[in-house]
Amino acid sequence: MSKLWSGRFAKGGAQLLDEFNASLPFDKKLYEEDIKGSIAHASMLAKQNILTQEEAEQIAQGLMQIKQEIEEGIFEFHISQEDIHMAVETRLIALIGEAGKRLHTARSRNDQVALDFRLYVQKQTLVIVHVLEELIDVLMHISKEHTHTLLPGMTHLQHAQPINFAFHLLAYVSMFKRDIERLESSYHRNNILPLGCAALAGTPHKIDREYVAKLLGFDGVSVNCLDTVSDRDFALEILFNISTIMMHVSRFAEELILWSSYEFKFITLSDEYSTGSSIMPQKKNPDVPELLRGKTGRVNGNLISLLTVLKGLPLAYNKDMQEDKEGVFDSVETVFISLNILKEAIRTMSINKERMRQACEVGHLSATDLADYLVQKCNIPFREAHFITGRAVAHAESLGIDLSKLSVEELQKVDARIGDDVVDSLSLINSMNARVSQGGTATTATCKQIELFETWINERKKG
Ligand code: ARG
Repeated sequence: MSKLWSGRFAKGGAQLLDEFNASLPFDKKLYEEDIKGSIAHASMLAKQNILTQEEAEQIAQGLMQIKQEIEEGIFEFHISQEDIHMAVETRLIALIGEAGKRLHTARSRNDQVALDFRLYVQKQTLVIVHVLEELIDVLMHISKEHTHTLLPGMTHLQHAQPINFAFHLLAYVSMFKRDIERLESSYHRNNILPLGCAALAGTPHKIDREYVAKLLGFDGVSVNCLDTVSDRDFALEILFNISTIMMHVSRFAEELILWSSYEFKFITLSDEYSTGSSIMPQKKNPDVPELLRGKTGRVNGNLISLLTVLKGLPLAYNKDMQEDKEGVFDSVETVFISLNILKEAIRTMSINKERMRQACEVGHLSATDLADYLVQKCNIPFREAHFITGRAVAHAESLGIDLSKLSVEELQKVDARIGDDVVDSLSLINSMNARVSQGGTATTATCKQIELFETWINERKKG
């Protein structure tokens, strides 16, 4: 099959070249964007009297037919067509003849691919936002039921202070909210039309880029053509945004793995989202969160890969840039299924409140509260209070009990200034509820956070 650019060539290319050179096997995914862009381009050319109205209509009809052929699976893709742009154009010419040959006026594949790929990234950005919203809904739902559920808050994976489970989940809501904001900021920054730059320097044809921008839903038109056909920042942004989402997902996954172990037993993953072992009949494995953690590797790889492809390229388009798409497709698919399955895994897991509470009874979680008591009630400087508390912890350890279980008499052996009212400070629930500062874990402060997130969610739903 002869190529659209074959004019200056005496011989056809080798089959091996076709295989190496083609992006068609993966960029056919962009058929919809390609057709949409071409219809808008043709309509603009007609408005500018570069094409007749009739030609533009023929082109639009031909393109719609091609779309249908692709969707019905009857379109014949040939690797020799190199990419989706030429596959569609070749078929259009076969279908409508002369008018089809005029479509590529004032356009190049360089701005065409920049358009198609950008349209894809913009669309997927909004889809990912939507899936994140659904995940946040599930987290909010569980949070509302667990503002009193105690569990040990940790640093260095060591028991630190008692917190409530809602507070813990809301930390992830905070992360996913930032992810949404980051995606939306990328969306707005990149909602700019690249088409009309032609190969690199613009075109002598009297085109109207603003008109095409409007037809395709862009907020504006790119400023410098040389930059526009070289720019893949929008692709890097979605890759970075996905890497950050997956980093958050992976940290959550790590906690789910820990929490579902016998050592913790804070949660049980539902049978629907757990797997068995082929040899050990008793096993129920957390394959879902493990895979979520594992898949973070490939999305990070995709980001580094594109950064590396782009870093040494001279302006403007270079064929290296054809390597931009597969990683983005892969990251988009990965984050999409990952968010969906994470959402289902947490929606269906059971939460073992009793185990969480028991876990709070080891590790002297109320030690900071004893120190705070000594500061507030006995007017002891914090450094000294810290030391006294350390001695109290050592005393509790020597008795083989948790600090929260130490009697007032035993505590007074450590420091006589300790009064009967210390009991209130040492209770685990009081310890959690004492942290009322803004953003703190006290149930009241946690409820305030729920309220703030709900206002944010409702405002998004409204507008
Ligand atoms: N298949 C190419 C890509 O994916 C499209 C642009 C090709 N432009 C060119 N001048 N060879 O990047």
